[in-house]
Amino acid sequence: MTFSNTRISLIKTGKKHFLPLLLLADEQESMIDRYLDKGDLYAMFGNDGDLIAVAVVTDGTDGVCELKNLAVAPEYQHQGYGRRMVDFLCNRYKDNYNIMQVGTGDSMITIGFYESCGFVVSHIVKDFFIINYDHAIIEDGHRLKDMVYLKKTIG
Ligand SMILES: CC(C)(COP(=O)(O)OP(=O)(O)OC[C@H]1O[C@@H](n2cnc3c(N)ncnc32)[C@H](O)[C@@H]1OP(=O)(O)O)[C@@H](O)C(=O)NCCC(=O)NCCS
Repeated sequence: MTFSNTRISLIKTGKKHFLPLLLLADEQESMIDRYLDKGDLYAMFGNDGDLIAVAVVTDGTDGVCELKNLAVAPEYQHQGYGRRMVDFLCNRYKDNYNIMQVGTGDSMITIGFYESCGFVVSHIVKDFFIINYDHAIIEDGHRLKDMVYLKKTIG
């Protein structure tokens, strides 16, 4: 698999332009608004300018940064682009942070992906999706309830 025909850009203006893809990973816009402005937004493009993936990373405390959103466009999924974005981000933040953290729904689709990228489950926030979202989030056929946090040592 070659990735030479992709580029990843840090997006500083017009972040909302990427909302359709961001909503794939976090389907409530008001939740995205909590981190999009303060976070670093990255977009991966193909040679032809096609948008392949987006990711948002925020600053945390005690040497921890947080991957808040990661989405690969449906037609590009399962081709290694998600892993490539994670590798890029770990490399980019390793000089300033020791740990990258990510919170995701209690679904094996996303937990399995992050584990395959080297993350390990650290803790669970009970009922996060019930309390913070205004509608039921269904993934892989079941309603998301708890937020599962995973961590990876990067620095
Ligand atoms: C989850 C997502 C980011 C993964 O990106 P992707 O480009 O499809 O994944 P990749 O092709 O890079 O997969 C990387 C590795 O993870 C593995 N993997 C993917 N899903 C997996 C799963 N459910 N269980 C185990 N391994 C998994 C792949 O087999 C691959 O391993 P390999 O390189 O050894 O073959 C993407 O599918 C997506 O955007 N989904 C919708 C939005 C979302 O749920 N985002 C995450 C919430 S923040």
